[in-house]
Amino acid sequence: MIHPEIGHGLTTTKAPFIENAQNRGEIFIHQPYELYNENNQDAWRKLYALLLPKWEKYANQKFREGVQSLCLNPDRIPRLEEVNAFLEPLTGFQAKAVSGYVPTYLFFDSLKRREFPTTITIRDNRTLNYLPEPDIFHDIAGHVPMHTDRTFADVLVKFGALAQLAAKRHAHLVNREEKMAKIRSNIQALSRFFWFSIEFGLMREGDRLCVYGSGLLSSAGEIEHSVESLEVQRYPFQLEWVINQSFEIDHFQPLLFVIDSFEHLYEEVNRLERWLLEGRLDHVSPGEPGVNEADLQTFLEAGDEQ
Ligand SMILES: [Fe+2]
Repeated sequence: MIHPEIGHGLTTTKAPFIENAQNRGEIFIHQPYELYNENNQDAWRKLYALLLPKWEKYANQKFREGVQSLCLNPDRIPRLEEVNAFLEPLTGFQAKAVSGYVPTYLFFDSLKRREFPTTITIRDNRTLNYLPEPDIFHDIAGHVPMHTDRTFADVLVKFGALAQLAAKRHAHLVNREEKMAKIRSNIQALSRFFWFSIEFGLMREGDRLCVYGSGLLSSAGEIEHSVESLEVQRYPFQLEWVINQSFEIDHFQPLLFVIDSFEHLYEEVNRLERWLLEGRLDHVSPGEPGVNEADLQTFLEAGDEQ
């Protein structure tokens, strides 16, 4: 008899193994490698073959070096422990398998510990274009090569620590409405920073424009569009604008921000920290992304624990 979890493989939104883990309330899980079926492996192979020439043309140099140093295999889905064996000695980062959505506070806190919550499912091999849900191709081929760079890794750690600062900063407020409004605003500001840098950032490398955002690095269509298309507005990274700028996740991004280097991004995350502590993130422009109540609750609880 075929085990009921094997026939379905680990296809995004269709994997019983993941559903069962979610139903049990498990966030951190293991990667049941034997459950990947031929369609899953085929999706990885096709995506890798589509993206490799685009990485050569559009990805920043540190990313391309990262792909080399992680020894990613073009032909099969990586095992997380193999990736980590190459990654951890470089920056201390590790990819940790998760069952899907990670509550925002926990996601930040994981980054602070140099753990990257990593989706283990993969998109359907018939629909390879960008999908809003993360998958292992987005997380391992899009994000993790960036984590091999020390400065970039330090940006993530610094950014991850901001959730605790945000939770702590408002813990003393007795007016619950005021407290929730400020934390909501902080989460929006932090999410927008993450979106316009870690997920969809562009950077200057000498006289060329290249990509370092993982949403772009894992999208066969959007990576080229982000650099070449006249439909995209590209501006120097400007923190005031970034934290107040709404974004939508279901189409190509019309507006992108450009950094000069990862040292530049580190300066910006330092400035973000200062602004958080000065209260400059407490009243950012409303709009996308929305903040769900459960996420807000995790920040309130973390603040109460301090
Ligand atoms: Fe991502």
